[in-house]
Amino acid sequence: GASVPQRIEEKRRAALLGGGQSRIDAQHRRGKLTARERILLLLDPDSFDEYDMFVEHRCSDFGMDSSKNKYPGDSVVTGRGRINGRLAYVFSQDFTVFGGSLSGAHAQKICKVMDQAAMVGAPVIGLNDSGGARIQEGVESLAGYADIFLRNVLCSGLVPQISLIMGPCAGGAVYSPALTDFTFMVKDTSYLFITGPDVVKSVTNEDVTQEQLGGAKTHTAVSGVAHRAFENDVDALLNLREFFNYLPLSNRDPAPICECHDPSDRLVPELDTIVPIESTRAYDMLDIIHSIVDEREFFEIMPSYARNIVVGFARMNGRTVGIVGNQPKVASGCLDINSSVKGARFVRFCDAFNIPLITFVDVPGFLPGTAQEYGGIIRHGAKLLFAFAEATVPKITVITRKAYGGAYDVMSSKHLRGDANYAWPTAEVAVMGAKGAVQIIFRGKETDAEAEYVDKFANPFPAAMRGFVDDIIQPSTTRRHICHDLDVLASKTQSNPWKKHVAVVG
Ligand code: COA
Repeated sequence: GASVPQRIEEKRRAALLGGGQSRIDAQHRRGKLTARERILLLLDPDSFDEYDMFVEHRCSDFGMDSSKNKYPGDSVVTGRGRINGRLAYVFSQDFTVFGGSLSGAHAQKICKVMDQAAMVGAPVIGLNDSGGARIQEGVESLAGYADIFLRNVLCSGLVPQISLIMGPCAGGAVYSPALTDFTFMVKDTSYLFITGPDVVKSVTNEDVTQEQLGGAKTHTAVSGVAHRAFENDVDALLNLREFFNYLPLSNRDPAPICECHDPSDRLVPELDTIVPIESTRAYDMLDIIHSIVDEREFFEIMPSYARNIVVGFARMNGRTVGIVGNQPKVASGCLDINSSVKGARFVRFCDAFNIPLITFVDVPGFLPGTAQEYGGIIRHGAKLLFAFAEATVPKITVITRKAYGGAYDVMSSKHLRGDANYAWPTAEVAVMGAKGAVQIIFRGKETDAEAEYVDKFANPFPAAMRGFVDDIIQPSTTRRHICHDLDVLASKTQSNPWKKHVAVVG
């Protein structure tokens, strides 16, 4: 037989080829890169240290023990590497080996990198492309999923976890991405669902395609399961690199600070006129965000879902910040079920990972109606309130216009431990708009109280006089104020009472 060095060499060569050239070609014909090509694009050149290239599956049923059914490394490539010099752990499922399906050995490889990531304190990035449980292995494979789920849960809040869906991900396999902090998808080539179109047809008699059921559009615009979708593998991996730069490596790490060429005291004159005089006219909160953050760079999360709230990452004087803003352009910026859930999850991520929160408020209240009430707006709205109240990271809030009712309290108000709360001169902090308020107080009576109400309440003074906002600032100076506050608040310490964990959120 061959010598040991020869056998090592052969196994390595075989591992690099995965399921073989014809399956690699098939992968390429579908517009997909291979598991290894993806890792090379994601990580810095020459930074990948691979683990477990010699691991093979251990199944002997259905002829699986024949040597032609063994692939060194099995159906996943794992290891660690660097993204712009910063450590990350990765696993990349190899669709060319048994459709990337999850064997016991495959799961064990993933668990190994997750355990190390947790121990060292570095993010885990999963590139998913898999036909699900390795059918030949049965319960062995199910155990493997559970082993991964458990680690997803234990890693939550400890190290950032990111899933990029680059092919099929179905059945039990969907719960690992769902447990991670961010799920990104590739348009046209990826899908996520609990049960596929055939099962759906047999159970509910619905005719639906894979794409309609679980494609990128469905999950970024309708279900809210995925946080962003990208054009193709290359676009997705390059965006993932950019996204990674915003994140701390773990909950023990401060959010990263980059070199910044955008002056921290830069004035933004156009903000002085951005809020329309008529308080019912809309404007785009994204314009405000872009003009205030460093270099206009904003990495939006869930841009197509619950668009009445805007969330995402940016930098202020080089420091990563999480931005939350009501969007007057969509449903007047009202809070509803989906926007509350979207906002709450984002706020909790930022708080878990030491990322300061900047909140722009223009909210006329919660969206009324039976659809909202029956859907449980009370318990879902509570999630956003809970998240802001619980957060101990630096919290800076700017009320640009309306801050009405309970929604005023929710949006990182002073009362929920806001550190720096500002009002623009156009701010109105009140229980509700003048028209509605006067109708209720003077029900059915002729009155000119509306003008009095506007004069009394539709301005920043009632809040400023009570110290509920710290200052009324000229909008053009907002960037300067926020950058200075972030400098000061960098040494903020605040903690919540000891507990095992929160009991109920919604
Ligand atoms: N277990 C074992 N092998 C699997 C597998 C699985 N779960 N899923 C796919 N494969 C194998 C196929 O047998 C095929 O092997 P081959 O290259 O030797 O022919 C290869 O992976 C590619 O699969 P194929 O079906 O040809 O690819 P496709 O792109 O046409 O379809 C899927 C992909 C995922 C839709 C399809 O393979 C599928 O439905 N798989 C089963 C999904 C499932 O029900 N999993 C269990 C639930 S968790």
